[in-house]
Amino acid sequence: MTKKTYKRYLITSALPYANGPIHLGHLAGVYVPSDIYVRYLRQRGRDVVSVCGSDEHGVPITLKARNEGITPQEVVDRYHSMNKKAFDDFGISFDIYSRTSNKVHYETASEIFRTLYEKGVFIEKTSEQYYDEEASAYLADRYITGTCPHCGNPGAYGDQCEQCGTSLSPTDLVNPVSTISGSKPVLKETKHWYLPLDQYEPWLRQWILEEHKEWKPNVYGQCKSWLDQGLQPRAVSRDLEWGIPVPVEGADGKVLYVWFDAPIGYISATKELTPDWEKYWKDKETRMIHFIGKDNIVFHCIVFPTMLKAEGSYNLPDNVPANEFLNLENDKISTSRNWAVWLHEYLEDFPGKQDVLRYVLCANAPENKDNDFTWKDYQNRNNNELVAILGNFVNRALVLTHKYFQGEVPPITMLEDSDRAVLDEIGTIGKAVEQSLEQFRFREAIKTAMDLARLGNKYLADTEPWKLIKTDPERVSTILNISLQITANLTLLLDPFLPFSMEKLRGMLRFTQTSWELIGSPGLLKAGSHLEEAFLLFEKIEDDQIQFQVDKLMKTREEHEAPAAAAPRKEEITFDDFTRMDMRTGTILEAEKVPKTKKLIKMKVDLGFEKRTIISGIAEYYEAETLPGKKVCVLANLAPRMIKGIESRGMILLSENPDGSLHFVEPSAGANNGSEIN
Ligand code: MF3
Ligand code: ZN
Repeated sequence: MTKKTYKRYLITSALPYANGPIHLGHLAGVYVPSDIYVRYLRQRGRDVVSVCGSDEHGVPITLKARNEGITPQEVVDRYHSMNKKAFDDFGISFDIYSRTSNKVHYETASEIFRTLYEKGVFIEKTSEQYYDEEASAYLADRYITGTCPHCGNPGAYGDQCEQCGTSLSPTDLVNPVSTISGSKPVLKETKHWYLPLDQYEPWLRQWILEEHKEWKPNVYGQCKSWLDQGLQPRAVSRDLEWGIPVPVEGADGKVLYVWFDAPIGYISATKELTPDWEKYWKDKETRMIHFIGKDNIVFHCIVFPTMLKAEGSYNLPDNVPANEFLNLENDKISTSRNWAVWLHEYLEDFPGKQDVLRYVLCANAPENKDNDFTWKDYQNRNNNELVAILGNFVNRALVLTHKYFQGEVPPITMLEDSDRAVLDEIGTIGKAVEQSLEQFRFREAIKTAMDLARLGNKYLADTEPWKLIKTDPERVSTILNISLQITANLTLLLDPFLPFSMEKLRGMLRFTQTSWELIGSPGLLKAGSHLEEAFLLFEKIEDDQIQFQVDKLMKTREEHEAPAAAAPRKEEITFDDFTRMDMRTGTILEAEKVPKTKKLIKMKVDLGFEKRTIISGIAEYYEAETLPGKKVCVLANLAPRMIKGIESRGMILLSENPDGSLHFVEPSAGANNGSEIN
């Protein structure tokens, strides 16, 4: 741990992609911890700037736009406003929430690319990439599907097979198909610019492995394993239409790779925020911290620092406190399966309960390992901790003061040793919370901060002012003064975590100070000052509210999950994809087993407008003799295939049970031969 003090802080939070709403995983991993840290620094009076914004480039955004028949700009406009508002409503106090499709960012990213280009940092390399001749476009990895060479999944993507998890490159796929046109892509040469990470490896090893041993073990470990595997040059341009054009000659149709431009978004956002931006980025006495999720580690610890180092004039991050992932009810959060709790929906379902969620996500943050969010735990932590410990204590302190002293802070008459011990403890807790926060241990921090409320409850339980009031009102005066001092300290200590509730509590106390340095100092509330009416800070959350949320998730599961035995689901297709299939009804006229095969039956099928020969692998389930006369559905425009020397023209539709047994899909009575199925 460096004990150095810094002049100022620049806190960045991963720019979320503007192609979907914010969910609990994002919050627990990145935005809740970063906001706690930033609020804490502000309370300490530090010069701090917190930047974030939408990451508006990348292939998934263009895919989404294509699927919905809108432009990428429309996609990012929608989610940018939605996410900006949700963060704001949730009390995530960025100093700026910018976006990477704006002008400042285009200029900043282009300028940095050009600087590196002119310094001769990049390697220019021509390689073969898949090209869709019908769509006249190079295909990003995600635009290519095909059969996984490892598990046979027919819907694997050019970068990954989601069935077996293997990461792939497009040329690994068997039978690659362009998802844009459905045609078979061809390999074609294309030029790109590469950041030679390999050349920076010795420096990276020194900088991370030697000079940043204090980074969290999960972050340090991931960096070490990348470095030990050896780094490769990484392409920083792409053949795409959506993105920042590569700002050099001879780069038509090429844009910056999203992971090249996005982190530069931190710089552009700072520029947009203040004309003084350079001191946050270039002055060595600024401390820069990147808050991210674990899937972003390599980009923030290796790629972006290499870019900055190569550029030469920027600071590097001091720390990158990445979190692991948050699961939801024992299952991985997934946008495509809609397995998530969306922030904007939470805010609608639980109005005014921002702090409850902030509390639960911090107390249960996936700091060192993946963690699970359950609604039951949410309810328990609210009812047993926020209501029963914190809410209960401050309410008793305030209500008793109203009851015995007409809402006027009573004076300390005489301190006993036990009182002094309690007052001392406030400062000790404050220091401990500070330590935890400085080391990015947010779970520990919130738990320790809550110890002050626990201490308050214990103090009231030990001293029992409600019994003493008859016999010793002077003693009660001291007890309530101390209880109210604890309450005032709670507003300081818990403000980073529970800003909405602490603001309310300050209102009740008529306490306006927020400085962290005041924690533990005597007499925060002056004797004789008046309190406002007390009201409950937290309320119990009932079972039916929790059940409603659980049911909502279960409904999603039913809609999205196939039973365990079912075949894996295929990727979503558009209506256009569907209409490209020419499906017809027909009748089997003749059928005979193909000699020397176990499964194949050759059939003649009447499609109304013509008769076709079709071969189908159904002999294990149907006798050829029983088939003539059967009505069937046929995929009529499937390209002809030679099977055992016979040309099969089309495919008969069959359903396949998990045990592999096949069953005809039969049109009901009244369907004519050759009718279109749609
Ligand atoms: N959009 C990325 C994600 O959600 C994060 C980008 S962080 C930045 O994983 F550094 F590139 F901005
Ligand atoms: Zn696979």
